[in-house]
Amino acid sequence: MKMNWDNLGFGLTPTDFMYVMKTSGDGCVFDDGQITPYGNIEISPSAGVFNYGQGLFEGAKAYRREDGHVQLFRIEENARRIKMGADRLCMPAPSVEQFVDAITKTVLANKHWVPPAGKGSLYLRPLLFGSGSVLGIGPAPEYSFIIFASPIGNWYKNGSSAMSLLIQNKVARASLGGTGGIKSITNYAPVFEVVQKAKAQGFADVLFLDAATGKNIEEVSSCNIFIVKGNLISTPALQGTILPGITRRSVIEIALDFGYQVEERDVPVKEVLDADEVFCTGTAVGITPVASITYQDKKVEYKTGEETVSNKLRVNLTGIQTGAMEDKMGWTVMI
Ligand code: COI
Repeated sequence: MKMNWDNLGFGLTPTDFMYVMKTSGDGCVFDDGQITPYGNIEISPSAGVFNYGQGLFEGAKAYRREDGHVQLFRIEENARRIKMGADRLCMPAPSVEQFVDAITKTVLANKHWVPPAGKGSLYLRPLLFGSGSVLGIGPAPEYSFIIFASPIGNWYKNGSSAMSLLIQNKVARASLGGTGGIKSITNYAPVFEVVQKAKAQGFADVLFLDAATGKNIEEVSSCNIFIVKGNLISTPALQGTILPGITRRSVIEIALDFGYQVEERDVPVKEVLDADEVFCTGTAVGITPVASITYQDKKVEYKTGEETVSNKLRVNLTGIQTGAMEDKMGWTVMI
């Protein structure tokens, strides 16, 4: 297929190959995985994932450098996060080595699908789920680990893609003691309805509040959130209700390196409404500025554009991810 690399969005463009690995025996050990042609998989209607939601996903990207080589960004962190989620959902997880090897093989098999430098990236979607049959409630007897890939465009396009967010207080995304802190597949559909309604009103996404008090911001349906006031950058603390984003962690480390003060803590809505800047972070969105937040019918606008803290962080992070800037953090690996 002849690709038009200039028109990539965040939609699925199936690539040639995927990676498949399954457990065998007592259900706890992954056999060697393999690259297979991308396509449908056969799975029983009684699989654990369909019946009791035993499933996780991940998101990662491979980038093409100006010199044509392809590189990965902090893949070991995805491996650690899926292990954390697997422990919570009573599933075996691939080891860090198996995970990194699987990602590397998937990217190499689909190398010509990695967009040219500056045009986007190859998005990688690892899935871990109970594929064995169950009826009585409990963990599945067999697990599958699959990675598929799709080229995607840059979310942020020259300042035109700043997000408008809606804060509502009818639906909570996660609660203390729940699964908001892992990338469970069950965290996403429960907010579809409220996000669809917000989109119909022209918002890009919904910013969810903490379920306990409704006073503090927590997470957008697809990404983490930061606010900026002067030299202080604040983001909700990890208390098990928000995703421990790899982009979130990288932004904190880059911001500290630049000399900003960074706080991970409760971030009250009233402070958000008074911020200079707000921005979102995630594998899919990268670092995307927020143009406005609407709360109780009041719309607050924020600074966006080239002279912002978020832009400085974005240029630096994408520079490291794409090999355009020196990676003194040691976060990238060329494959
Ligand atoms: C990612 O940023 O990779 C995510 O997993 C968000 C997804 C819901 C698009």
